[in-house]
Amino acid sequence: MAADIKQLEKKYVGKEVEFRLLRFAPDKDRAPYFQSFRIKLSQGMTVLDALMRIKETQDPTLSYRKSCRMGICGSCAMQVNGFPKLTCQTQVTELNTDKPIEVRPLANFPILRDLVPDLRNFLKAHESIKPYVIREDAEELDHPTGEFYQSPKELEKYLQFAYCIKCGACLAACPTNATDHEFLGPQALAAAYRYVADSRDQGLEQRLEAVDGPNGIFRCHYAGACSEACPKGVDPSLGIQLLKREILKYRVGAAHKKPAPLAVTPKGLKRREGIPLPPEKTVGQ
Ligand code: FES
Repeated sequence: MAADIKQLEKKYVGKEVEFRLLRFAPDKDRAPYFQSFRIKLSQGMTVLDALMRIKETQDPTLSYRKSCRMGICGSCAMQVNGFPKLTCQTQVTELNTDKPIEVRPLANFPILRDLVPDLRNFLKAHESIKPYVIREDAEELDHPTGEFYQSPKELEKYLQFAYCIKCGACLAACPTNATDHEFLGPQALAAAYRYVADSRDQGLEQRLEAVDGPNGIFRCHYAGACSEACPKGVDPSLGIQLLKREILKYRVGAAHKKPAPLAVTPKGLKRREGIPLPPEKTVGQ
């Protein structure tokens, strides 16, 4: 392994590579254009590192987003050689460095400047699906008197969808979004399923208006590109299909799952029916 890394370093460190970056300043450019920069690769360099090097040493006006630099915040998603990727997680050595490496802002988003996409509609779509647990007993939510217990099996139903970091890569890959910019998009739809599948939630009916409109869930043709693009291993296309099933069940009148009501234990604690409370004392106490 150490020998492999040494070989890679020998091959790449110090190599001069061309980056073709999309540039666009709406206050002075009539249309986007490409500009090339050449930089020498250093050890472990990511595409984001390369952009930072270009900004530091060649053009301080280059604009892009970044924050955590460790694949958590989702800010740095861009099209790298045509594919949506987190640039902080994309090693330059993964790419063909004999050709220019092309970096554009995420596809299917308007451009604010250079490599910065306008995420406002994307975030509005996310907000529209009410991304929080909805309960009929609102009083309990506002003034909680106990906890809602959830079994590992119940958690498993939505857990992967909770890993979404809202980077926008799924939307950039989606062929429906490419032709219908009003389409709600895979991120918002998978997020809607994340809550609908949550055993504590009772909000399917309240989410229908956003999810089941003319630009909503049934515009998804199940291309699956969103799931291939997700850098966190979320499978939005699966979530969308499962949400379609929940909506159809609701439409034909099958009772939508409702969390069991809270029950008061002899100790005054509350729990949902069927889910045991944790032991009062842990072993060794
Ligand atoms: Fe946060 Fe890349 S900078 S995910």
